[in-house]
Amino acid sequence: TMEGALTARDRVGVQDLVLLEDYQSETAFLHNIKKRFKEKLIYTYIGSVLISVNPYQQLGFYSPYHMEKYQGVNFYEMPPHVYAIGDNTYRSMRNEASDQCILISGESGSGKTEASKYILQYLSVCSASNDNVEHIKGRLLQSNPILEAFGNAKTHRNDNSSRFGKYMDIEFDHKGAPVGGHILNYLLEKSRVVHQASGERNFHIFYQLLEGADEELLSRLMLQKTPDKYFYTSQGKCAKVSSINDRRDFLAVQKALKVLEFSPKNIDELLSIVASVLHLGNVSFSANEEGHATVDREHEIQKIANLLGCQFEQLLQALTHRTIEANKEKMESPLTVEQALYARDALSKAIYGRMFNWLVLKLNGSLTSKNDVIMALITSQSQDRMRKNVIGLLDIYGFEIFKSNSFEQFCINFCNEKLQQLFIELTLKQEQEEYRAEGIEWEPVEYFNNKIICDLVEERHQGIIDILDEECLRPGEATDNTFLSKLEETVGKHPHFITHALGDSKMRKTIGYEEFRLVHYAGEVTYSVKGFLDKNNDLLYRDLKVTMSVSKNEIVKEAFPATELTKLKRPETVGSQFRTSLNRLMDILMSKEPSYVRCIKPNDAKMADRFDETLVRHQVKYLGLMENLRVRRAGFAYRRTHDIFLNRYKSLCPETWPHYDGPSRKGVDVLCKYLDYKEGEYRLGKTKVFIRFPRTLFATEDAFQIRKHELATTIQSVFRGWRQKKKFTTMRNAVTLLSSQWKKILAQRLKAKRKKATLDIRKFILGFMTRLKPRCPENADFLDYVRYSYLMRAKESLPASVLDKSWIHSPAALEETGKLLQQLNMKNLMLKYVKGVSPQRKAMMEEKVLASAIFRQKKKGYDESVANPFQDKPRVEQLKPKMLATIDSGEQALYCCSVTKYDRHGYHPRARTLIITSGATYLFDSKDGKLKQKISHNELRGISTSSLGDNVFVLHAPSDNKEKGDAIVQSTFVIETITKLARIAKKDQDVKIVDNSSILHDMTGGKQGRIDYVVGNEVSVTKTKTGLVVVSSFLHLN
Ligand SMILES: Nc1ncnc2c1ncn2[C@@H]1O[C@H](COP(=O)(O)OP(=O)(O)OP(=O)(O)O)[C@@H](O)[C@H]1O
Ligand SMILES: [Mg+2]
Repeated sequence: TMEGALTARDRVGVQDLVLLEDYQSETAFLHNIKKRFKEKLIYTYIGSVLISVNPYQQLGFYSPYHMEKYQGVNFYEMPPHVYAIGDNTYRSMRNEASDQCILISGESGSGKTEASKYILQYLSVCSASNDNVEHIKGRLLQSNPILEAFGNAKTHRNDNSSRFGKYMDIEFDHKGAPVGGHILNYLLEKSRVVHQASGERNFHIFYQLLEGADEELLSRLMLQKTPDKYFYTSQGKCAKVSSINDRRDFLAVQKALKVLEFSPKNIDELLSIVASVLHLGNVSFSANEEGHATVDREHEIQKIANLLGCQFEQLLQALTHRTIEANKEKMESPLTVEQALYARDALSKAIYGRMFNWLVLKLNGSLTSKNDVIMALITSQSQDRMRKNVIGLLDIYGFEIFKSNSFEQFCINFCNEKLQQLFIELTLKQEQEEYRAEGIEWEPVEYFNNKIICDLVEERHQGIIDILDEECLRPGEATDNTFLSKLEETVGKHPHFITHALGDSKMRKTIGYEEFRLVHYAGEVTYSVKGFLDKNNDLLYRDLKVTMSVSKNEIVKEAFPATELTKLKRPETVGSQFRTSLNRLMDILMSKEPSYVRCIKPNDAKMADRFDETLVRHQVKYLGLMENLRVRRAGFAYRRTHDIFLNRYKSLCPETWPHYDGPSRKGVDVLCKYLDYKEGEYRLGKTKVFIRFPRTLFATEDAFQIRKHELATTIQSVFRGWRQKKKFTTMRNAVTLLSSQWKKILAQRLKAKRKKATLDIRKFILGFMTRLKPRCPENADFLDYVRYSYLMRAKESLPASVLDKSWIHSPAALEETGKLLQQLNMKNLMLKYVKGVSPQRKAMMEEKVLASAIFRQKKKGYDESVANPFQDKPRVEQLKPKMLATIDSGEQALYCCSVTKYDRHGYHPRARTLIITSGATYLFDSKDGKLKQKISHNELRGISTSSLGDNVFVLHAPSDNKEKGDAIVQSTFVIETITKLARIAKKDQDVKIVDNSSILHDMTGGKQGRIDYVVGNEVSVTKTKTGLVVVSSFLHLN
């Protein structure tokens, strides 16, 4: 901000010159701009007036980024900039719905045109936009290259000097979008067409055409590429300029012409005119014997006639003769060579000048908002929507003071006097308005009012312009010198007018005989009267006008209307024309709110970083900047709205810090009193505080800087706390949000679950009711469920042992499945069981199976024995070493048990130990271990036992064994013993279960014995004479 920049004021000066302590000092003023210029700060304010010093180098602050930064900001918040002026103007126009204008002034080369282009660009980029206005923005911008090509030229002071004054209105609709534009042009320097000083050029377009046109165009225009072939482009001897690219510029012009909808025919005619002027310059004349002018090369005239679309003979005649009307009789009067040359140049100037006017007219047609026409028709449109506001841009020549000053400088400087007057009036008016609006009493300002000089020039009958006109019109021999005498006669007593004759001896040395001097507000300028009459007359012979008015070139025809010829009144002189248009301009500007850009040229060499103090001091003077500052400083140097002021400085007073609760005006009052502002040093307006002296503000600002550092620490810690708290709040809000969302989700889920449950239950019931029907959609799920749950239950309660024959209840539909599953499970269990059996156990099982095959359902007591496992190892404790020693070598006792043997003589019971080996059955005396009988397996004929529950069996020995006979044995483990023997001896087929109640057996000596079986109460064996009686108590209770 501006106040912020006050801190650096030692280095970069103040941004606003009203803050200069010594505002009367030109030197202080100068040093301030110089300081800033050295820092590349080319912009400085005097209040709201922008001073711009041409940097002569590209500076980086014109980017879109910068345009953006200046948009809609408070004027004083950003460093001074031409964009700030643009923005402020645009915003005022929109906010107050008022017309605005920006007046750009300064001497040639000071940067006026550049500034106006930056503003136009800013307005184009930053104004409201829509599809419709894009093309109008394009046209507004593209009008510049065209006007510059035809109206700018290289001069000593500026390679791109505008040789005409330009005022451009940009129209905005009620939404702030540009909808059209209008250009007014002033006083084109036509003399440049026919004459250029050495080192200067004609208007750019001539060189652009010669350099940039293709062969075809050149030959059609009958031109050669070389500018030095043409008189009008060769006088300055500098057709080529390093800073100018004519070829590229010509392309730009052609493009711009298209954008602005110039028809190909228009463009062709336009370029034909330019070419015809070049050719005209090369027309030369010679005197014939009678001293009359004749054209040297008539084919040149032919070319021109072709290009301008006029008659060759007519043109030739008009260039060498003039028609004089005397006594109602027309006479052809030949011209002298001098007169012919004058006529030629006059024609060139007239054609070019009028073409330029036509161009502006044409541009205006293209810039007129198309809506205007339609809008006018639709009368129902509301006033507001029809409402348009304009921003005017005035880029007009600044004060010119040359070594030799002529009519042109006279006009230009007059123009600047008028602008200065406008400036004074408007600034003072503005200032007064502000005081009034703020309720502060006005303090009269001392300033120089230049109205007196304006009057000197323009006053009716008494002013210089009218005196000049009078000289031009009056019959008789009027010359520039008679004009000078007339001046001395009429305004000789005016304090701002001096001539050689009127001046004192000292002055006479500086003023020539044919000169007069005006004391302008900006300084003294001496004008040479030479050419004043001619230039003011701007005479073009009637014959040439006639020739042009019948041209087939539409532009020429339009520019020289036939109606002009029939008017009896003499055409207005240049001087009064200029006065009229200038006063019209003043009216235009008066009706608008002005802003000012004052351009300064830092050196004459077009060099960067060079600040010529003398040169700048001169400009500061004649731009009236000191005057400007004085007006602005007459009352108060500084003013800001209460809000802004209080906001910045409130930390300096405990009562206003950190907040002042009351109205800000009251707050400022409190603050100023606390800061000990003296009465008269400040005033409180309605909305603004006014401070008279910059030093008051500086002291406050310096105090603020110190206070700021103190506060920084406090603010930092407060900020940290605030940030922490903010973080916490954010987090807490997030948690609340999250948990409420989560609850919502849970509730939604529960609801869905319940709904599903209801549906499931309903479906389940339906399924149950239809469960006996064949599978259908109603019961499918139910049946599936039943099946599934049945299988699951079955899985949980499978019988775990082979012996468990239980099975869960199967639903009707699954009964068969249940049976199959049970079987499958049993098979599985058995397989597992079998796999899990050890070899010994397997062997035992095999024995049990064998036992089953032999005894099942054949011998009583078998079923009871099944559960008792068979002996798997010989009962060794019963064995005696002697017995083992007796066994055949290589054999092992595979089975052994104690038995009772009944001998064959008297059937005496004897205790014996029975041993079975792989080869034979041995019977030992259990007491002494002597072998009593050995029956080899080969010899064993069979084994017999009864079907009853007794435990007696007979081993049938071979019949030829007379000695011993069969062995009758009683064993506690009868089933076991017989099974073992049958297996080891492989005699399972030879076991006989006898159920006819007696067994016969062989006895020694070939006799036969008999065993009879009886069922009784006790088990007993008794002998009879013929055999044994076995009583079996074993009863089966089937
Ligand atoms: N802001 C700027 N940044 C860079 N260069 C600039 C700036 N302003 C002006 N110049 C340079 O100075 C030259 C002259 O500027 P410009 O044509 O705007 O002067 P002028 O005041 O219009 O002069 P005249 O009265 O002769 O038309 C430009 O061509 C350009 O090179
Ligand atoms: Mg210019």
